[in-house]
This record gives sequence, C-alpha cells and structure tokens, in this order.
Amino acid sequence: MNDLDGKHIVLGLTGGIACYKSAELCRALTKAGATVQVVMTAAAEQFITPITMQALSQRVVYGSQWDAREPNNMPHINLSREADAILIAPCSADFMARLVQGRADELLSLLCLARPLETVPLLIAPAMNREMWAHPATQRNLKQLELDGATVFGVGQGDQACGETGDGRMLEPQELLLDVISFFQPKVLKGHHVLVTAGPTYEAIDPVRGITNLSSGKMGFAIACAAREAGADVTLVAGPVGLPTPRGVNRVDIKSARDMLSAVQTHVDRATIFVATAAVADWRTGNAADQKIKKDGSGATPVLSFVENPDILAAVAQSPRGQSGALFCVGFAAESHDLLANAQAKRLRKGVPLLVGNIGPATFGQDDNALLLVDADGTQEMARASKLSLARKLIASIATRTRASAQN
Ligand code: CTP
Repeated sequence: MNDLDGKHIVLGLTGGIACYKSAELCRALTKAGATVQVVMTAAAEQFITPITMQALSQRVVYGSQWDAREPNNMPHINLSREADAILIAPCSADFMARLVQGRADELLSLLCLARPLETVPLLIAPAMNREMWAHPATQRNLKQLELDGATVFGVGQGDQACGETGDGRMLEPQELLLDVISFFQPKVLKGHHVLVTAGPTYEAIDPVRGITNLSSGKMGFAIACAAREAGADVTLVAGPVGLPTPRGVNRVDIKSARDMLSAVQTHVDRATIFVATAAVADWRTGNAADQKIKKDGSGATPVLSFVENPDILAAVAQSPRGQSGALFCVGFAAESHDLLANAQAKRLRKGVPLLVGNIGPATFGQDDNALLLVDADGTQEMARASKLSLARKLIASIATRTRASAQN
C-alpha cells in the first residue's frame, strides 16, 4: 500500500528554473502510487521538455487549450474533472497573479479556473527570485490565493539560480511529496497540540560512557508525523537517535530522563494530547564521574550505583490536567512477554486512559510493528504493518477518544 495509491494529480508546470525539480517530483509522486497528468505552460517548455515529463508520467503532456486529441475539445474540463488535486510546481510569480485574476487565456490557468472548487483542491509550490517573492504584489497575491481556497506549500530558503540567496526557492521534491501526502490525510486533530516523547534516554557513567537501550525512536517519530499530518501542532521530545525530524514538527533533543522530564514540563501546558513512546531508562547512575574513569592497572572494576529516574508519563497523567481529561495521555509498553497482562497492569499503574503495548525485541529498530491497544473497555489489536500506517490508525483512534471525552 503506497501513500498516494488511487490519487490522480494534475501536475502543472509554469515558467521557472525550478522546472528541473518537477521531473523528480513527478517521479516521486508516481512512485508513491499516484497517477500524474502533466500540463505545461509555454514558458515552462522553455525550461524542460514535454518529452521528459511524458516519459516520467507515462502520459501525454498537455500544453494547449486547443488540443484536438480531446474528442470534445475541452481539455480544461476533462483534465480538471478527473483530478484529486491540481499541484502547480513550480508556480511562478506571474502565474500566481494570473490565478488571482481568474485569467483563462491558456490551458493551465483555464483548468484551474474551471475546476470544481469543492472537490478539486489547488496546491501551489511557488518558485521565484527572493525580491519577487518579497514584493508586496506577490505577498498580496499569496494571501488572496489562500482566501480563495488554495493551499500554498511555502518556499525554501537558500542559494538561488540567479546567484542571490534568500527565500523563494521551490521546496525540494521530497518535501513537496510529503506535503502532498499530508494534504490528503484527514485533519482529525486540527486545533490540538500533541506532545510526543520518543527514543531511548542516555544516562552518563562518565563524560564518554553511558547507559542506554535499543529503542530506535521510529514509532514515536511516526506518531509525531501522523499527528502533524492530522493537522495538530506537534512537539517531539527526542532522545539520542539519528532520525530526520518529521516535516512541520517542532523537535527538542534531549539525552537523559531528567532532561526529558524538564522538556516535557516546558511544553506540556500547551498540549491537549501526550503520547509517551520513549523507552526511558528506569535508572541512572548515582555516582556518575565528572572525568573519564581510567583503568589503574590493578584489574579493579568500577562499581556503579543506581538511582530511579522520574516516571514522566505517570507524573503527567497524575497532574490536574491529566486527571481532568483536559490532557489525554497515552502510554506505551515495551514488553518481552505476557503483553496483554503487562499492558493492562501498566495502564492502571500509570493512570492513563489508553496504553499501547508492543513486544520490544520484535520492534526495536524495525520499520514495522504490531500494536495492542488497551483501555477501560477492553483491547484492540492492530496487525503488523509499517510504523507510519499504524501511527495513522492510532492517531485516528486517539482523535475519536478525545472527541468522545470532550462530549462527556
Ligand atoms: N515512561 C516514562 N518515564 C519513565 C519510564 C517509563 O515516561 N521513567 C513511560 C514510557 O514512555 C511508556 C510507559 O511509561 O509510555 C511505559 O514504559 P515501560 O518502559 O514499558 O514501563 P516501565 O514503567 O519502565 O515499567 P517496566 O520497566 O517495569 O516494564
């Protein structure tokens, strides 16, 4: 199952050097399962050939409203009615202005104007020189496009083809792909702020050594990504992992359990949902050394003492907001055996409405997982699947529960 299976996207190219990225974007969209119909303006054809786009999309490219290949001679109607979305990438400053004015004197602007507003969303990836981007006319057009219902994906920052540096680059194909995938996810958490902990913690023994565990952070990162796709503001408090930050997520990196607690305390007041997926070290060393512990040649081994770490989830769940339901708390249980009994016991011990159990050794570092949801009413199994697809299902389930608890 690919993220864009069944989606049909009209990919519109307008005149700009960023057209070279649209070839990669087209490929990325089709790889993700979409069918792509490319439409190019005459200016776009100055930058990249229709042949390239035809080969990548496996479909004949359209460029003229007078295209006689359509039996009814109405490509603007036929192409726009089939689409699940129209994505203009790159969208030049001129094309933004044309959209704002409702111009219809060439195929791409014509089909944008002719699209059914309720069912065919318009997605825009602007690309232009930084001065053109910053110009009041462009910024005014941008606001108007949003008021007219378009989704503007924003621009990147950095070196521009003209030699200048600043805002206005088209987003990279992979970023646009993620934005398109995210666009199609139901916005079930709009208005929510989700706080997620993820990954292991690292408890120092001395400045160069420490104790940690095998958690990869992948499940927590997938949940942060799915919550963002669902329209929430997301803060991700991450232990030491090498994973990229999910798009649009505010990430706070920490090392130890106590760092994680203090980051959570900083952000929890804004949160309406707290999902604790982190594999927090239960103990830290009570006698961590300030300097590297050296071998003295005698064969003596260091003796470590341990102190219990704070239980972050239990503390948050037992806070007044956690208790009142204003903050919906979700715990995870990484078990090695007796998943159901351990998860049920842990839910009660932590005082959370929902606890998600998984078998730690079977999931740490993997891209897939299987989950067991335990709440006051019983259990629900989520069969083995990719962590992102499980995260999306879990977010949908959390959204249903928060809606139900808001109504009670
Ligand atoms: N957790 C936490 N702070 C801790 C320990 C755990 O916030 N100091 C959270 C985890 O993020 C997870 C849940 O509590 O959501 C359960 O974590 P787990 O390690 O499975 O359970 P423990 O409480 O450590 O219990 P045990 O080690 O006995 O299984």
